[in-house]
Amino acid sequence: MDLDAFVTGLPKAELHLHIEGSLEPELMFALARRNKVALPYASVEDIRAAYRFSNLQDFLDIYYAGAGVLRTEEDFHDLGAAYFRRLAADGGRHAEIFFDPQTHADRGVPFPTVADGLLAAMAAAERELGVTSRLILCFLRHLSEDEAFRTLAEAEPYLDRIAGVGLDSSEVGHPPGKFARVFQAAGERGLKRVAHAGEEGPPAYVWEALDGLRVDRIDHGNRALEDEALVARLVRDQITLTVCPLSNLKLCVVEDMAAHPMRRMLDLGLRATVNSDDPAYFGGYVKDNYLAVASALELTADDLVTLARNSFKGSFLPPAEIDRRLAEIDRYVAGAVVTL
Ligand code: HPA
Ligand code: ZN
Repeated sequence: MDLDAFVTGLPKAELHLHIEGSLEPELMFALARRNKVALPYASVEDIRAAYRFSNLQDFLDIYYAGAGVLRTEEDFHDLGAAYFRRLAADGGRHAEIFFDPQTHADRGVPFPTVADGLLAAMAAAERELGVTSRLILCFLRHLSEDEAFRTLAEAEPYLDRIAGVGLDSSEVGHPPGKFARVFQAAGERGLKRVAHAGEEGPPAYVWEALDGLRVDRIDHGNRALEDEALVARLVRDQITLTVCPLSNLKLCVVEDMAAHPMRRMLDLGLRATVNSDDPAYFGGYVKDNYLAVASALELTADDLVTLARNSFKGSFLPPAEIDRRLAEIDRYVAGAVVTL
């Protein structure tokens, strides 16, 4: 069995995926036509050619513009359905997906349109593909905390179907502490908490996410490695890091894949996971991300199994369900003859 086949068969969860970032240029074009929305691109090739970024903000400008074609419940359903098909083909068994309701509210798309479409796709994925999932509502950190509170209020009727809240968008200049009160309110409503931190922002932002927002996971967390005491804390508490290798490469967080910190993260005992972030923009879904780090860093089959196990350990599935998924990995590994 070669590396590709081994990774495909390895049961895995994806914990860092912006559903709007899974909008492939073909679907973007189709939705633009369906909704009579003008796109500043003449063709699918034109769109792909625009995907060259030198930092996070470069990407975000294009990502928010692309999301402009999403208007109806059916659009959000189709977006979700396309992602789950890709995930299942990659051997993904579970996903905890981010969505950005504020981006859509800005265009007059109400919260229920977004949530109902995504929830319908999630139910269908479980029924038809056996893929389970959870929803994580992300607040845009370039907006105010008051706006985040308004979004949480709009989400109120859906909170029984939302696993947690997250924090994304432009990191530098928008420290986690800006959202301490709304994260506390989310915690009081029984929601899990995660935040992007240490992608471009300093280690201090990771500390703030841990101690100010009381997060259950750190999204990215690359720059935590600059702070020894922070690494010790993350290892001690086995805080899951949702690392996104191809995203890191495309947004110039790392210079090349050989310089990616994943090897070091594993050696340090950090609970790192592999994720695709915005696969339509960064050139690959979850399997491509496993393969990219595996070949650039010469990861072993044991490393890949550790990463897949971490993806379930760090998930918001109930403990018994996590144990069941880990046992599935054990059975797979026992049966796989690996020649990497
Ligand atoms: N970082 C911050 N915000 C985002 C990202 C990311 O990688 N993807 C989508 N929104
Ligand atoms: Zn992200």
